[in-house]
Amino acid sequence: MAHEHGVIEALTMAEFSGKVVVVTGGGQGIGLATAESFAAAGATVIVWDRSEARGEPVRDQRRAAGSLERRQVDVSDLESVRRGADEVLEQHRKVDVLINNAGVNFGDQSAAEINDSTWEAILGTNLKGTVNTVRVLSPAMVRRKQGRIINTSSILARFPVPGLGAYAAAKAAVATMTRAWARELGPHGITVNAVAPGFINTPLNAGLPGELIQALLQRTPVGRPGKAADVANVHLFLASDAAGFINGAIVPVDGGLTL
Ligand SMILES: NC(=O)c1ccc[n+]([C@@H]2O[C@H](COP(=O)([O-])OP(=O)(O)OC[C@H]3O[C@@H](n4cnc5c(N)ncnc54)[C@H](O)[C@@H]3O)[C@@H](O)[C@H]2O)c1
Repeated sequence: MAHEHGVIEALTMAEFSGKVVVVTGGGQGIGLATAESFAAAGATVIVWDRSEARGEPVRDQRRAAGSLERRQVDVSDLESVRRGADEVLEQHRKVDVLINNAGVNFGDQSAAEINDSTWEAILGTNLKGTVNTVRVLSPAMVRRKQGRIINTSSILARFPVPGLGAYAAAKAAVATMTRAWARELGPHGITVNAVAPGFINTPLNAGLPGELIQALLQRTPVGRPGKAADVANVHLFLASDAAGFINGAIVPVDGGLTL
């Protein structure tokens, strides 16, 4: 029955007990909301963040049905990713879900002013960081013929704004890698998708000028900024059994801003 079927899917979606989930950049913002959501849904969550934990590493840990641990991993550094992966695989023997969320966006990226260190740092974390984790963790997924990889693009990949070209290019490349991996890894039982967040209220956006925020809000049909949880919910869905036939999608989470 259609009704029953819907209920079963909804329950399955919230059930991650026994699943091992790696969330990069889970120290704050979208990644933290995602890590907490998976833990609350029963998963064993390992956060990889390059920054050291500030104070209590995880909020609401007592409410979590699963568990949440944090390791210092810099995704732009292949050796750091390898060390993180060795530890996870030794301890848990598998990774079911990889959420590539770590990202940075800073500096003068304008045509004539961008410098090598800004370019390398932006490409290093957003693009190479995503390639590094997939490179290191996908073989374990392929061996089990099972896995979910969810990358992080941005609406700026399709609608770049002046002065943020490097970030837009990195996020466009992440979208293309997502589609390439979806074809390559699909036959091995792994789906690869990406979220493309719009304007989400997180520490990353704390420095945006008020006028820009107002302009973005005016163009957002749902009339509010996004919350980290809005993206975490999509991560949860894409990682769930209910989303098993979604592969190679770049899912906008922007309240309609790009319409
Ligand atoms: N907030 C938005 O409006 C928005 C919009 C589009 C896309 N995104 C993307 O969503 C993701 C999360 O954004 P957010 O707003 O939560 O950012 P954030 O700055 O609040 O958090 C990012 C986290 O990633 C970590 N990190 C950065 N570089 C890392 C590295 N090399 N290795 C490991 N960890 C690293 C940081 O320490 C931080 O904890 C990013 O990929 C970002 O580009 C955000």
